[in-house]
Amino acid sequence: MNTVLVGAQWGDEGKGKVIDFLTEEADVVVRFQGGSNAGHTVVVGEKKYVLHLVPSGILHDGKHCVIGNGVVMDPFDLMRELEQVESWGFELKGRFHISERAHMVMQWHRALDKAEESVRAEGEKIGTTGRGIGPAYAAKVGRYGMRVGDILKPNFLDLVRKQVKEANIKLRSLGALELDAEEMVKLYTPMVPALLPYVTDTIQLLHQNLDAEKSILFEGAQATMLDIDFGTYPFVTSSNPTAGGACTGSGVSPRAIDRVIGVMKLYTTRVGEGPFPTELFDADGELMRQRGGEFGATTGRPRRCGWFDAVIGRYAQRVNGIDYWALTKLDVLDSFPVIKICTGYKRKDGFVYNTFPADLEVLADCEPVYEEMPGWQCETSKITDYAALPENAKKYIDRILELVGGKLGVLSVGPARETTLRINV
Ligand code: GDP
Ligand code: IMO
Ligand code: MG
Repeated sequence: MNTVLVGAQWGDEGKGKVIDFLTEEADVVVRFQGGSNAGHTVVVGEKKYVLHLVPSGILHDGKHCVIGNGVVMDPFDLMRELEQVESWGFELKGRFHISERAHMVMQWHRALDKAEESVRAEGEKIGTTGRGIGPAYAAKVGRYGMRVGDILKPNFLDLVRKQVKEANIKLRSLGALELDAEEMVKLYTPMVPALLPYVTDTIQLLHQNLDAEKSILFEGAQATMLDIDFGTYPFVTSSNPTAGGACTGSGVSPRAIDRVIGVMKLYTTRVGEGPFPTELFDADGELMRQRGGEFGATTGRPRRCGWFDAVIGRYAQRVNGIDYWALTKLDVLDSFPVIKICTGYKRKDGFVYNTFPADLEVLADCEPVYEEMPGWQCETSKITDYAALPENAKKYIDRILELVGGKLGVLSVGPARETTLRINV
């Protein structure tokens, strides 16, 4: 069984937690896009693990973890994280692999990310994580990027010098500090032996696993509404976090994928800038933020919070072909007397959009259309059996599934591993 897991909203849906839950049955866990802009949290007992680049499957001994060709990997972030994983007591040897085709996020990509963001006018800022993601992907598609495999080449350090020189032209034009090429050479020289043990042809590795009928789990980072093609462009990330990205970012054919699982919060959050039709600026939004611990796992920024948006849910179901949903954070809504669901966006002339408009100016002219449901006003975080949920919680979930399509696979009622209800997967 090969499973693609994607985020349906603007990220932070609880993908890390659900991956950790599904890793039990997987043999290999693969990251296929994004980089250290991701922050995936797994809570086991008293311990909270946050992973940025390393697949969340690493917390299960014996499972193989792969950074696929579609990822942009910052070697410094990676090394820091690998040290952390080892300090947590997990073995890496022989089970952590990096594609030689993956691109690297270099110091100049990070500098460019910050410089580009700083010159964007108010209202045009993206609110990036500052991890160099945009410039690294720009270099990849512009065909002047640095691949992991380049560290194996004798001219690697000359390539570093060349790229610094080219990046400095851009940094200068943006009014940012330039980088010193020889300093960069010094910085990257020790990276070669550090990375070498993990670098491999991951396409070959994944196909050997497919041939042996092993199970592969694809761990999406970011989410549908942050997708460079399907999201709220330009307020998006620079990769394809949607299901198709699992194939292009790993070298596994769409024909090998058995199912797609979408992770979706039972309300909505967003970090960074960009449109968010159901955003709340009142006490309800603050309650979601406090109860849900809605502060970025990567940057610590407070997350914007709002009601569940079924237009987005349905759009994500279609774009990704979601078979099963992992619905998360039900417990965060426990105390609300009334819960709202957005079912469409109403234009000033009365026209209602039921699909997500491509043009953000259209969206800016719309008001969300809400239907209201009674809350359940009791604690759900200790419930271990779906049948024992309060009736109003079941009705809320049923209504959401009716609006968005797809079946319920997993329900999460708390951050801890045990607070995960298996329904259908
Ligand atoms: P990811 O990026 O999709 O992996 O999500 P993050 O880890 O960035 O953010 C999800 C946050 O919600 C983390 O702090 C999780 O520990 C927490 N979380 C996940 N599922 C639940 C849930 O069902 N209830 C509550 N209260 N917290 C949850
Ligand atoms: P996970 O995997 C939430 C957002 C940033 C910014 C935009 C572009 O934890 O769900 P980037 O640094 O990628 O160029 O920033 O995307 N963003 C995320 N928001 N969760 C994430 O990852 C995110 N990764 C990027 O806040 O708005
Ligand atoms: Mg996150």
